Amino acid sequence: MSSFASEDESRAFFDDRFSHVSSDVFLEIEEEVFGTDYGATSWSTIDQIRTFISKMELKRKDRLLDIGSGSGWPGLHIAEEIGCETVLCDYPLTGLLEAKKRAGDDGMNAVMVQADGAALPLADAAVDAVSHSDVLCCLTRKAEVIGECHRVLKPGGTLVFTVLELSESFVHEGNRDHDFGPEYAMVDQPYEEMLISTGFEVEIHDWTDVFRNTAEKVVAARTSRFDRLAAELGADDAADAVSRSERNIAAIDRGDLIRRFYVCHPVDLDG
Ligand SMILES: C[S@@+](CC[C@H](N)C(=O)[O-])C[C@H]1O[C@@H](n2cnc3c(N)ncnc32)[C@H](O)[C@@H]1O
Repeated sequence: MSSFASEDESRAFFDDRFSHVSSDVFLEIEEEVFGTDYGATSWSTIDQIRTFISKMELKRKDRLLDIGSGSGWPGLHIAEEIGCETVLCDYPLTGLLEAKKRAGDDGMNAVMVQADGAALPLADAAVDAVSHSDVLCCLTRKAEVIGECHRVLKPGGTLVFTVLELSESFVHEGNRDHDFGPEYAMVDQPYEEMLISTGFEVEIHDWTDVFRNTAEKVVAARTSRFDRLAAELGADDAADAVSRSERNIAAIDRGDLIRRFYVCHPVDLDG
């Protein structure tokens, strides 16, 4: 795992990564493993995003907000499938520019916002659904982002997201350091509690098995194209990209790392 001294370094990592995601070797691996071609950097496969779509129950002309949208996965794909408006929010300009180009190529109605998910420049009750894919584990202010999701959602709206988590047993043993998973996987409070205290009702699904399977495919795809990956990223970063996934698989097998899918609705206080 890259070790980031601060969230700024984490953002710099993604900024750099989004300048490579549309290279031939990255796209080839993404299509083979994830079934998509948006420059994905999360673990969400096309089948899993189909589940996002079915849980969101969006209609044409509704508005979706995708936070930590990277180069457009999954926000642009969801919006295209449904025919809804989409707002994409992230920090790295490289990713947003890739997303803007893709939206233009696909003739889509999408707005890009360079902003912090913990301080969204959107009005209250501005969107019908919010999504994020493995974003909360890449930042520290998780409760603030969840609070913003709640604030910008219309009553009756839906928040769906995936996140990589350190297992309860790993945390209960007093561990805080980990050389697997994303840098900010540690939580001060379980997500379920955070969501409920924010005013959501929550449905939780364990997606660790698919995550493990996907990580194995990523290792195989990157290893078999290692020379091309090294030409794109440099040998050290290419080796790190393979070993990070290998460490994730080992951590899953030890029971230390999990990936969950959350479906959340604002509680109707009048209902
Ligand atoms: C694992 S990537 C996921 C990118 C993309 N959604 C995907 O599924 O491929 C996490 C994303 O979260 C973004 N991110 C990290 N901290 C953020 C913050 N405070 N506000 C908004 N986005 C943030 C990163 O820049 C990165 O694009």
